[in-house]
Amino acid sequence: MDALAINGGPKVRQAPWVSEFQGVEAIGQEEKDRILNVLNKKRIFRYLGRGYEESEAYQLEQEYKELTGCGYALAVNSGTSALISALVGLGVGPGDEVILPAFAWVATVSAILEVNAVPVLCEMDASLTLDPVDLERKITQRTKAVIAVHMRGISCDMDPILAIANRHGIAVLEDAAQSNGGSYKGRSLGSMGSAGCFSLQQYKIVTSGEGGVVVTNDETVWQRAALYHDCGRNPFNYDELKIATFAGQNYRITELQAALCLGQMERMQEIISAMRVQKQRIVAGLANVPGITMSSVFGSERDLGVSAVFTLPSSEKAMEVQQALEAEGIPCGVIYRPDAQNLHIYSFWDFLMDKRDAWGKGHPWSSGVYTGDIEYNRDMCPQTLDILGRAIQVRLNQYVKDQDSDDLVAAVTKVASHIL
Ligand SMILES: Cc1ncc(COP(=O)(O)O)c(C=O)c1O
Repeated sequence: MDALAINGGPKVRQAPWVSEFQGVEAIGQEEKDRILNVLNKKRIFRYLGRGYEESEAYQLEQEYKELTGCGYALAVNSGTSALISALVGLGVGPGDEVILPAFAWVATVSAILEVNAVPVLCEMDASLTLDPVDLERKITQRTKAVIAVHMRGISCDMDPILAIANRHGIAVLEDAAQSNGGSYKGRSLGSMGSAGCFSLQQYKIVTSGEGGVVVTNDETVWQRAALYHDCGRNPFNYDELKIATFAGQNYRITELQAALCLGQMERMQEIISAMRVQKQRIVAGLANVPGITMSSVFGSERDLGVSAVFTLPSSEKAMEVQQALEAEGIPCGVIYRPDAQNLHIYSFWDFLMDKRDAWGKGHPWSSGVYTGDIEYNRDMCPQTLDILGRAIQVRLNQYVKDQDSDDLVAAVTKVASHIL
């Protein structure tokens, strides 16, 4: 067996690893033509008084209705504004608690606070998604909704989550920002809960640089979200507004963003298929490496394959393996390190830990409307920190080929045989 590269032995891999992006790497003529078409039309704003259904944004909404099978879709200017609009759509607001996993993105917790609701943290399990067992423990009289975050291309275990939510009469909002186009037992992500949200930001599977989409089967949720995303204005043009108006934001998407994403939608299935094939190859290759463990969800239908994640017996071993793998030519990271800020992890959400708002008034916790007295601390989700502290992540995209996957497996196998 060769010596480890970190100790002066030969590297397993010489070639650079693939980029950390998916959709944006695939941008080609389709996207360019669509953008030019928008410029040539001289219509870069969605809500002109005429031609509502000809807008790119409207077409994008049709695509998302088709993708998810949902009756309603609303294109917005980011995944964060999609979450905020959806929460408003669901009627979540002051006095309500919203449960979210301790591994998400800082935008998810920010969205809850933006609608004046109180975030309640829930553990994730080995699948990297919301732990249904802990979810049930976190429900109180004040719980209005749970945000099921489909993290790193992995679908949450929706059957138990939906069963628990139904039993307690709480809404489920699916945050599919990182798992656009994914599915769970044949059902599209975003379509199983009361509403679903997608992000089209550069790091996502398909992108328009910035952008987002809300989907739902509930007309009232859709109308409330749409009203909120357009400053309290009825944006429907021809649809009857069935709700009373209230103030909102400007979260409108531009025609350029929508057109770019329409081009990307044509590539979505190809990107996902390529990633799934290689993820299965990697999972199969790593399955019998002593000391390496992986959730049974990895490589299954519930996994889009945007990254390869595996866990080590301890955080110390994870750090050792990570450094050795880097030296072998495989860029990777330990997901949770106490000394390295990672805003996907709750313990780095300082404003939440300190219950700090923008005005120094402890809002929404001390608003008077909220009747609970929740406290946060950096150790409150030990299961999440334990798993993430032992987890190594290698980013993947649709350009990973058999040889790349085999290099990854060979490098992990070599490193494990020396270190574990
Ligand atoms: C899980 C999750 N939720 C929400 C968002 C917010 O999306 P955006 O960056 O488009 O506002 C992101 C993306 O960055 C995310 O990863």
